[in-house]
Order: sequence, then C-alpha cells, then structure tokens
Amino acid sequence: MSTDLAATPPMGWNSWNAIGKDVDEQVMREMADALLSTGLSKLGYTYIVIDDHWHGGRDESGALFPHPDKFPSGMPALAEYLHARGLKLGIYSDAGLRTCGGEPGGMGYEEIDARTFAGWGVDFLKYDFCFAPDDRTSAERLYRKMGAALRQTGRPILFNICEWGHHRPWLWARSAGGHTWRTTGDIWDGWRDGPHISQNGIESLGFEQQRGLEAYAGPGGWNDPDMLVVGLRGRGAIGGPGCTDAEYHTHFSLWCMLAAPLVMGCDLRTLDAASLEILSNTELIALDQDRLGRQGFRICRLGRCEIWVKPLANDDIAVGVFNRDNATCQVNVPWSDLGIEGQWHARDLWQHADLGIYEGQLSVELESHACSVLQLAK
Ligand code: GLA
Repeated sequence: MSTDLAATPPMGWNSWNAIGKDVDEQVMREMADALLSTGLSKLGYTYIVIDDHWHGGRDESGALFPHPDKFPSGMPALAEYLHARGLKLGIYSDAGLRTCGGEPGGMGYEEIDARTFAGWGVDFLKYDFCFAPDDRTSAERLYRKMGAALRQTGRPILFNICEWGHHRPWLWARSAGGHTWRTTGDIWDGWRDGPHISQNGIESLGFEQQRGLEAYAGPGGWNDPDMLVVGLRGRGAIGGPGCTDAEYHTHFSLWCMLAAPLVMGCDLRTLDAASLEILSNTELIALDQDRLGRQGFRICRLGRCEIWVKPLANDDIAVGVFNRDNATCQVNVPWSDLGIEGQWHARDLWQHADLGIYEGQLSVELESHACSVLQLAK
C-alpha cells in the first residue's frame, strides 16, 4: 500500500450526485474545464471521477469497454485530456457481478479489469458493493483481490472502497489496499434523512454515523462519509430537498473536521457564487488536508449544540461549534473542555478574521443549523 497516494484525503469531483446515469465524455470534459475556470483545481480538487453507467460491455477477451455513444473517443483520450490539464481520471466499478445500476461488475474479472483501467490511464477506482455476497469474509476477499490486482499493474491507482460500512471496512480496508472506505449508505441533498435507506442527510451522516471511527483514519487511509452535496440546491440526480446556505456551510465544515475526502458532487458548470465560496474556503481545506491526518471528534454536547475538535500538525487546535437546533443558540467553549489552559489566539475560518486573544473560554452565537470553525494557536 502506498501512503503517498492518499497522504491527505483525496479531493475532486464525481459525476453521480449531479449527473447520475447521463454521464458521457462531453460532460466529463466540461466539468474538467469548469474545475479549471472556477479555480477549484488549484485548491487541490484534481480527481475527476466517472461514476456508474459509463459501460458498453465486455469484449470477447472479457475486457470492459465504454459505451460507444457516450464515450466515442475512448477512455485513453479522456485520460489524456485530463492529464494535459493537471487533472486525474477516476472510474467506477463494483466488487460484485453487476454495478448498482446493473452494468457489468468486476467479480471474477479483477486482474483483467485492473489492467484495462491502468492501460487507459486511470488514477482512481471507486469500487462499489452491489450484487456481491454480503458477508464480511466475501467482502474482504473481493476487495483484497482488487487491491492486489491494482498493485500488480504497477500504476499508482487510488482505491476508493465503497462498501457502505456493511462489514466494518475501517478494520480491514487499509490492509486490502484501500485508501478510502465508505462508512455509510448514500448521501442525499438534505439536512435530514429521507424515507429510503440510501437517503442519508448531512446531519445523521456527519454528526452521528462517523462517531467512534476517528482512530481508523490517518495518512494513507480515510473514513469516507460520502461525497459532498454543496451546490446541488435540490436539483441533483440523487434527490433531496436541498439545503440552506448555513446547512451547506455546516456540511463542508463537518467533512473538513472529519478529514473526509472532499469529492464535490454539484454541477460545476452552473455553480452559484455562494456554493463556490464554500467549496473554495482555503482555510477549511487546509484543516481537511492537515498533514497530521487526525479525524475530528465531538467533545461535548450542550442541548442541540456541539463542540468538536481536530488537533493539527503545528499544535494548533481546530474547534468546530455546531448548532443542530431550529433556534439560535449561544455556545460557551470553556478551555477545560478542550484540555487547554492560558491564552490562545483565535481565528475564525469562515470570517477569515483574527478574533484576538482569549483566556479561559470563548463564546459563539449561531443561527439554526449554522456553525463556526475556529483555529486556536498559542
Ligand atoms: C451506489 C453508491 C453510489 C453510486 C451508485 C451508482 O449507490 O453508493 O455512490 O456510486 O451506487 O449506481
């Protein structure tokens, strides 16, 4: 396993949340262009991942080929287009017999598929878990097999295990060659959960479903609470009512505190200014990408408000203060809860402002579903 590939959580864009099954090479190129023109690629968002439904089938030798109408120029041409612009190509497959959308899966074809992907110039593989035997032994075996096949190609390919947390992948995914592993079912574009099992809202994914997993994340391997929905505004292919600006701020802040992969899911060609500003917050991105690689965690709860911390490589402390309530709340952050003493400089990473020196505590007022992310320095 190479830690270099994922020394910090991977960043990029994936087609699923915005485009769903209508993905094609034209869309992928337009998203790559938008990644450059918005300035997002310079901030570290470099993987462009084609999710499900790119497939044409398997040829007589068993090798996968892309759908000829959707990808008429072929995958190597797309890889070249991206590589020429400093971007990287990601692709999607599945550990079972079929992908979740019913396309050909990788089971029994691991070596040949890994060789095909490497030959195309693929840099990232998202590997799903539909139509696979749903027990831990099989899950481990299938992911290990693909991990080994990828390694065998000699091409550095980031391995994004998408097993939804069914069989505690945080315990074995890293040794199977995984660089990230999904810990949950699918996100949707909403604060609360929807009625279906694959409609996980930001609140349950971020605040509840990652708890206790912080020990398993670190350089080379990251818990993945699914892709970002910032900017979908209720128009995504994955459904959901959409979120307020405050909720998208909180979503992005939580994912950065969690040292989660930052894989955008919105349509970059029509991204609104407020969402672009959220996704471009370099101070938040720096938290996510901090080289110590600690996943943040909740240290206390005051009613529906929470205080989270993420220790940083330079001994600073990131503090996230979150309001899950429907009403405004005032939160007091006492140093004793943070395990610190004395005077600390506080910086507000959303206001991009130094707040001054604090001793003993500081206090924050937050609107409903809003948050504040502070960096404390000695
Ligand atoms: C699963 C995954 C999603 C997406 C779809 C594609 O639901 O969890 O992220 O890749 O499959 O069909």
